[in-house]
Amino acid sequence: MTKQQITINFESYASLDELSKEDHELCNAAIKAMNESSYAPYSKFNVGAAVRLSNGVIVPGANQENLAFPSGLCAERTAMFAASAQYPNERMCTIALVGGQNGEICPSPATPCGACRQVMAEYQTKGGKNLAVIMIGANVIYRFEKVDDILPLIFDSLKF
Ligand code: THU
Repeated sequence: MTKQQITINFESYASLDELSKEDHELCNAAIKAMNESSYAPYSKFNVGAAVRLSNGVIVPGANQENLAFPSGLCAERTAMFAASAQYPNERMCTIALVGGQNGEICPSPATPCGACRQVMAEYQTKGGKNLAVIMIGANVIYRFEKVDDILPLIFDSLKF
């Protein structure tokens, strides 16, 4: 038996102002989506996301809940599916997400659920280049260069 270790690399930023202009703009789109488009009458937890495409277009998304719970969808997948449906030939470069309650961004960064990470992995593979992930919190922002960093041992059928 050999003990193994997986290292995850990411950057943390104290405020949105520290990000590049492009990433800051993307984060603002995610925050706007959280504030204006989230439909979360059941959990009252608002999530916003925004995807930047290779043509520079930003596609926003927000969580959409439903009385029949499984019918709802997370903000990240809402954004990614909308992006893929509208711009099937554009690569997804970066996705930002943010969570909040009562109009306030949560202090710690919102972290994507497993299903959203898997969907991110799919579009990263489809695009053939890294898909960066930005998780926004009121106190700190995390930036991951690629989906592999938030989904170690990623499922990849091409490996089998
Ligand atoms: N949610 C997201 O939008 N993204 C995630 O990655 C995790 C959870 C939403 C789903 C539901 O509307 C609410 O947050 C509470 O779970």
